[in-house]
Amino acid sequence: PQQKTELKERIKRLLKEQQAVLVAHYYVDADLQDLAEETGGCVSDSLEMARFGRDHPAKTLVVAGVKFMGETSKILSPHKRVLMPDLDATCSLDLGCPADEFAAFCDAHPDRTVVVYANTSAAVKARADWMVTSSIGLDIVAHLHAQGKKILWAPDKHLGSYIQKQTGADMLLWQGSCLVHDEFKGVELELLRQQHPGAKILVHPESPEAVVTQADVVGSTSQLIAAAQSLDADEFIVATDNGILHKMRMAAPGKRFIDAPTAGNSATCKSCAHCPWMAMNGLRNLAEVLESGSNEIHVDAETSRKAVVCIDRMLDFAA
Ligand code: 13P
Ligand code: SF4
Repeated sequence: PQQKTELKERIKRLLKEQQAVLVAHYYVDADLQDLAEETGGCVSDSLEMARFGRDHPAKTLVVAGVKFMGETSKILSPHKRVLMPDLDATCSLDLGCPADEFAAFCDAHPDRTVVVYANTSAAVKARADWMVTSSIGLDIVAHLHAQGKKILWAPDKHLGSYIQKQTGADMLLWQGSCLVHDEFKGVELELLRQQHPGAKILVHPESPEAVVTQADVVGSTSQLIAAAQSLDADEFIVATDNGILHKMRMAAPGKRFIDAPTAGNSATCKSCAHCPWMAMNGLRNLAEVLESGSNEIHVDAETSRKAVVCIDRMLDFAA
């Protein structure tokens, strides 16, 4: 604990010295989330992270999350320095959608509007018409559908088919998935619900359909936290990365939060209910990058120039 306190103090001093601000996701370590809030940074979902980084006057953004979040921050603020605690922190959705294969998929369907999830590389975004996050994907696709557009969607198949069913849009889906949310199980959730009949079910839409259909609320991490606060229930079953429970417990003290069931448990399944890449962010490597200035995110100018178009479209739509 003493080491932790010293590390936190060191990080606070470095953030000030470097005119840096910490932008953290709800899935990272609780200490990093607290530190972001205590130092005037933000802890939020991926849409808010992008907007906060863009609008903040700091010279340096330190993004505690995964690579696509750092890249999006850099694309939106090319003149800021963007650092990340670990540059190897990526995402199975990003890994499962290589830019060259994605470009071939788009080339094969030139009649479709290309909508990509935020969890993709800058190169994939450079090929897209729209970028969306989980908090706004449904509204944007509904908007495009109302204009009669046919959609090519990538990469998350579960989020894509959820949006397709909700909107009735014509969507051609890339078959990617999140290795964390893919583990949540519908049958086991039904059994757990029987043991907790009063519990409300909160589900991130990267989860499989058998889980999403049992939800009281489907939404982004921020939307699920807001639901935990506002819904009149004492118990909640939560189908998303368990890093979110820290904030849920703070936002709704006195309520009880239960992990939705996965096929295994933490002893048998490394990615069960916690993202291995989000877990790469810690106090130690955060202090190190602030001290050394290493782990800077770079996006080449041409890719950035193209990718910013689809990100700005989403931010303008959300405004
Ligand atoms: P949110 O935009 O809901 O924070 O989701 C990001 C993410 O990676 C979920 O797995
Ligand atoms: Fe990607 Fe899933 Fe990790 Fe989110 S939780 S960053 S979607 S692997």
